[in-house]
Amino acid sequence: MKGIILAGGSGTRLAPSTDSLNKHLLPVFDKPMIYYPLSVLMLGGLREIMIISTPEDTERFEKLLGDGSGLGIKLSYRVQSEPKGIPEALLLAEDFIGQDDVTLILGDNIFFGQGFTTLLRNAIKHHKHATVFGYRVKDPERFGVVEFDHRQQVISIEEKPEDPRSDFAVTGLYMYDFRAVQIAKRLKPSDRGELEITDLNKEYLKWNQLRVELLGRGFAWMDAGTQESLFEAGEFIRTTQQRQGFKIACLEEIAFYLGYISKEALYEKGKGMEKNDYGQYLMEIAERKHNQQYWYSIDHHPMLGLVENE
Ligand code: DAU
Repeated sequence: MKGIILAGGSGTRLAPSTDSLNKHLLPVFDKPMIYYPLSVLMLGGLREIMIISTPEDTERFEKLLGDGSGLGIKLSYRVQSEPKGIPEALLLAEDFIGQDDVTLILGDNIFFGQGFTTLLRNAIKHHKHATVFGYRVKDPERFGVVEFDHRQQVISIEEKPEDPRSDFAVTGLYMYDFRAVQIAKRLKPSDRGELEITDLNKEYLKWNQLRVELLGRGFAWMDAGTQESLFEAGEFIRTTQQRQGFKIACLEEIAFYLGYISKEALYEKGKGMEKNDYGQYLMEIAERKHNQQYWYSIDHHPMLGLVENE
């Protein structure tokens, strides 16, 4: 399974903050927004990830994250010349996807919750055709909306309907088989002039090949695309981190727990930022004697390879 983060767009809803900086580089409390979707792909066990952004911003992401070797993953970059729609990510990444399955995540989506890693890994393991992730919201008309029956079989999926058929938003996390690229090639722009990811999902639904996984009450899902939601996401992260003493979406910590980077590398990375809380946190993890009790900071799943680092 390959991973793609779509982090382009025009960011107009966050202007003037985004007039000279890509939205996904803005901080959500103590780290850039892109860390959150990247952490999701890493927790899912994906190691080959492509970041797609605008002509002006792609190199900024590269400056931030490099080739991924510092995190034990392989990152590549691609430019989207104009925001022509979410499915365009699949077209731009056609050679990268090849014959593999792919997980696509939107750069402004934040997921958090006990059991998320396990849910994700199970979804990847059992993945067939197309999978979307549904989350109950109070304002479904702002999102893609998925309707399903008592057996969780998808009945309909619509983009920002005036009269939603369910309260379940389609989150910005999608899994597809390689056929998605060919399907994306056949899509026509919608009334707002964009290729719509919902139209692609509708094609899978036509063949009865669209699955929905539900993220229940114990999960938080946010898209940080407006001033309000960006602020709220930052507040949520701050409060949760402060209460528990764990950081959310700390990429180096995840890489360490997954066994991708050594204790020494983690410490060095922290030392480079020792004057701030993020750096001190990394150094503290590297110095812990018994990291096992911190399994719960990700999900307590043995496949995370924590033992290798002990
Ligand atoms: O967040 C989930 C929602 O994302 C889904 O429920 C909707 O079905 C889906 O269409 C999408 O809706 P949005 O209106 O939130 O999409 P938006 O245009 O804001 O773009 C979402 C992210 O993708 C944002 O971080 C910018 C990036 N993007 C978007 C487009 C259209 C790109 O990088 N390139 C693009 O061409």
